[in-house]
Amino acid sequence: MAESIRQVKQLIEPQFVIEGAGVLLRRSFGPSRANPFDPFLLFDHFAFNDPLEGPIKGFPTHPHRGIETVTYMLEGNVRHRDSLGNMGVIGPGDVQWMTSGRGILHEEMPRRGPSGNVIGFQLWVNLPAAQKMSPPRYQEVTAAEIPVLEEGGHQIRVVAGEYQEIKGPVTEIAAQPVYVDVTLQPGQKIDLPVPDSHTVVAYLFEGKGYFGSQAEEDSQAVEAVKLAVFGDGNLVRVQAAADHHARFMLMAGAPFQEPIVPYGPFVMNTEEEIRQVFIDLRNGTFAQT
Ligand code: CO
Repeated sequence: MAESIRQVKQLIEPQFVIEGAGVLLRRSFGPSRANPFDPFLLFDHFAFNDPLEGPIKGFPTHPHRGIETVTYMLEGNVRHRDSLGNMGVIGPGDVQWMTSGRGILHEEMPRRGPSGNVIGFQLWVNLPAAQKMSPPRYQEVTAAEIPVLEEGGHQIRVVAGEYQEIKGPVTEIAAQPVYVDVTLQPGQKIDLPVPDSHTVVAYLFEGKGYFGSQAEEDSQAVEAVKLAVFGDGNLVRVQAAADHHARFMLMAGAPFQEPIVPYGPFVMNTEEEIRQVFIDLRNGTFAQT
């Protein structure tokens, strides 16, 4: 297939928002009916590194229906516990891919690591109408289980999808996602193949890079922290700035092209289905298995 490089069509500056019991986050986008990043619904970056922030408040028990929440930690950890009796700790480099399906109630409590930092991401991925009421499911992957490709100073951690025949451990996700953590040393370049029907975004959280075509003057300079949204093509080309490394999360997913009705932690296809969420919560049948 002919190579066609995706160009940056939009740069998003994440906005600070407060969620949960008072957690300050950088949000690049959240769920909306317009659903511009279909199948992705939300991307949050939590980064607490100021000891003056004091004790970190978390996300006490809350429900989800109709989505998948993906937690990827860089530093510190998140303790989680849910209505099905699952509990555990998501540590540095670990991923939790939680498919809420018809319903789950869980709490997510960040804790500082030895460095004093808590840094991680939460991505929400939509489910197609046919899977919104499926049974909940977890894929928990420890850092050691995530394949890391290192070549000439590149470092690519493949959480989901495939890069150079290395497959990520998270599988059987409706959105057929690619989710990779890429670090480039100064001046290094990489080509990341992506299916051309997928929605593709990259979250540059460290350093500076050029995204888009080969020639520096035609590509888009991007400085952390920004979300780059790509146009059509089958390749994402990135080059780190000559004097700086670049680190970014690349996300690609197959759009479902279905209408959505988001309401807080629920994303369904119709208003009727959102009303049903509240009926189920009231009747105590929300998270029944
Ligand atoms: Co949650």
